[in-house]
Amino acid sequence: MNFSLTTEQQQLVDQVRKFTAAHLAPGVAERDEKQEFPLDAFKEFGKMGMFGLCYPTEFGGSGMGYLPYILAVEEVSKVDAAFGIAYSVNTSLYGGSVMYSQATAEQKKRFLAPIASGQAIGSFGLTEPSAGSDAAGQKMLATKDGDSYILNGTKIFNTNGPIADYTVIYALTDPSIGTKSMCAFVVEKGMEGFYVGPKAHKMGIRSAQVAEMVLNNVRVSPEHMIAKPGEGFKLAMVTLDGGRIGVAAQALGIAEGAFAIAADYLQKREQFGKPLVKQQYLAFKMAELYADLEKARLVLYKAATLKEEGKPFTTAAAIAKLTCSDTAMKITTECVQMLGGNGYMQEYHVERMMRDAKITQIYEGTNEIQKLVISSNLFAHKK
Ligand code: CAA
Repeated sequence: MNFSLTTEQQQLVDQVRKFTAAHLAPGVAERDEKQEFPLDAFKEFGKMGMFGLCYPTEFGGSGMGYLPYILAVEEVSKVDAAFGIAYSVNTSLYGGSVMYSQATAEQKKRFLAPIASGQAIGSFGLTEPSAGSDAAGQKMLATKDGDSYILNGTKIFNTNGPIADYTVIYALTDPSIGTKSMCAFVVEKGMEGFYVGPKAHKMGIRSAQVAEMVLNNVRVSPEHMIAKPGEGFKLAMVTLDGGRIGVAAQALGIAEGAFAIAADYLQKREQFGKPLVKQQYLAFKMAELYADLEKARLVLYKAATLKEEGKPFTTAAAIAKLTCSDTAMKITTECVQMLGGNGYMQEYHVERMMRDAKITQIYEGTNEIQKLVISSNLFAHKK
């Protein structure tokens, strides 16, 4: 057990921190207000090799590992959580679906390498209007027609939908047997019958581009199928396990960002003749929040390390997502309160962080679903 980052990991964090200060901090509040995504910065980040940290070199990555990738998600999310989720969905959910599928090496080179090398952007289509927490309740239909499949249905809440070159679409070939027929395809931007709706208007992570996707007789070739009927549900679950560590990293980053702003504010702002931090109530509050951050970081890095080492990590990922998102909600709410009226104002950023924190308790499996995952694994042997 080692609680320190390696030199290489620390250098990566420093590199991401510099990128964040130069490209993400400027205009972050305005982008939130206008719901504008920093697409150029995202592409630049991809070209720096950040999308491929956790993927092997043969598929366009650098093979550095899952923990380094998680450190990068955490770092960008300290400043811009919308960028953090765009990065995580692109890398964990799109990239993970292709990487962990039974697709051939040729398919992985075709559909993963452009993402891992930062040449293209990915999105993930699992959720449907009537299949949210119940991911098995899909309606998207894949009908065989000769060698091809024809896709029909609607996906919603697709992060990166409006900017994606490739989207993984989960579908059923035979709804009467449910997930036993679940499969997955890569659908490419511009395919006939593939429509991406207008960007959704959201409470938080407002600059992230989220939309619904309608597939109306979209014909896909056998090369686009990355999971055969019966393989799709497990692929979605395994992929989400990895994605949940990404959301946990995003949440921890949000909490750390808000904490740093509050720590600075409490030292500079004077009331009753002394800096606020000299009020023991506030100093103790910060001590408690700091302890919360440490606890969240430990479970996050543990989950990422287990995944990197190829060990079972489903429960650890659910614990990390549950812990880090609840910590983010608690810390951002406390930070708004400690900054008083200023905390409620846009220019102090913590109000945005509080809005951003909320979704981390909801997406990639609500925290109630995380408790279901943890308890099912906890009592699995008693079934
Ligand atoms: N790894 C591998 N296999 C798994 C697994 C995992 N983590 N979880 C389940 N499975 C397998 C089971 O072993 C079982 O296999 P067998 O049929 O061989 O026995 C099979 O999958 C079915 O498992 P369950 O009976 O547990 O399935 P379920 O229907 O009860 O659902 C669930 C389980 C955990 C509730 C699942 O539906 C779930 O995770 N729901 C939440 C969905 C979710 O996270 N959606 C987020 C979408 S992405 C997003 O948020 C958008 C974005 O852009 C950010």
